[in-house]
Amino acid sequence: MFIKSVFNMLFFTVIFMTCSEKEKTLQEENIINITEPKTPLKNATKTFFVGMAVRANRLEDGSEYDKIIKREYESITAEYEMKMNVILPSKGNYNWSNADKIVDYAIANGLNVHGHALIWHESTPEWLENYSGTDEEFEQEIKEYITNVLQRYKGKVTSWDVINEGVNNSGGTLRNTVFRQRMGDDYMAKCLQFARDADPNAMLFYNDYGMCTNISKQNKVFDLVADWKNRNIPIDGIGYQMHISYLKPIRQQIEIATDRAIASDLLLHYSELDIRTNPNNDITVLTEERAIAQKLKYKEVVQIYNSIPTKNQYALTIWGMKDDDSWLLPHHNNDNEWPLLYDKSFDFKKAHTGFLEGLN
Ligand code: G3I
Repeated sequence: MFIKSVFNMLFFTVIFMTCSEKEKTLQEENIINITEPKTPLKNATKTFFVGMAVRANRLEDGSEYDKIIKREYESITAEYEMKMNVILPSKGNYNWSNADKIVDYAIANGLNVHGHALIWHESTPEWLENYSGTDEEFEQEIKEYITNVLQRYKGKVTSWDVINEGVNNSGGTLRNTVFRQRMGDDYMAKCLQFARDADPNAMLFYNDYGMCTNISKQNKVFDLVADWKNRNIPIDGIGYQMHISYLKPIRQQIEIATDRAIASDLLLHYSELDIRTNPNNDITVLTEERAIAQKLKYKEVVQIYNSIPTKNQYALTIWGMKDDDSWLLPHHNNDNEWPLLYDKSFDFKKAHTGFLEGLN
């Protein structure tokens, strides 16, 4: 009897190992995704841009990134190279090279460019964080920066995240950034006006994360928008970053938040969409079940965006090309994360099919 139970245990262990090895092999050889339809995303919709975050060093002609961007996308956002700490790392020392490369690539390929981001506390260069001049001189530096950037890309960059993440995650208050400290509580309105004065045709956005779940932030942002509108401060759109997971926010939260943007008569940009498959770090490969859950979440998000009035649509931008490019892996110090539409071999995932189905 004992020998029989040992044999059974060994037998089932072998079976289990074989299956999980098989699962791993399937995953590695990407057999799980082999049946996904190959319809380019941009061919499936006519009412808003489908966008992709890009990096200058990945745009060389003929690269996999280049091929997929041209095949699938209509709009691009610089993931980090059009931020202040890259363009103006020290006083008076403008470094346009990578921003120009991205904008020139867009022009050469007939792509829309969404400018990201003029004012963000996480991409403020040291020399401004520790500015030694007066508040008036600080404000002049910011006015000059915004003016120089918008005038350089006038007619090339369609829209800008003028302020990124200016509201605290709790308390419904403004972040106490160096911009607020040096320019006063109304610094966002000043920056929006600087941008409008520099490029009257650029669409100006406020961009933030957690907008579907963080009600104190959501309320504060829409209070700001209402105040700007009342004072004829230029604001054209709002960006919901949409760094979410397959579990949350739930559909109703996304719909309620989206309706608020529509009610404020703004353009709405789902500006940095990625969908975590492993928020609780409970898997070490992308299982079939979790891939399907992610597919359904992409479909849900795209369906919601696709159903808003055309006058409020601008773009739905994915924050990165293939899973292992995502900022989420280093951010959470966990490579067991597959948040995007393409796997590490640039192959379509079920998530891509979910996005497509959301557009239909
Ligand atoms: O490519 C260079 C590399 O050559 C260099 O050796 C290395 C060390 O300095 O830096 C590399 O560039 C890094 C880049 O990501 C690419 O990995 C930058 O330092 C790093 O700052 C940059 O981080 C970006 C981050 O914003 C800060 O700009 C992330 O890619 C980008 O995904 C992230 O995006 C933000 C949005 O702008 C706002 N919403 C949140 C979102 C995630 O944090």
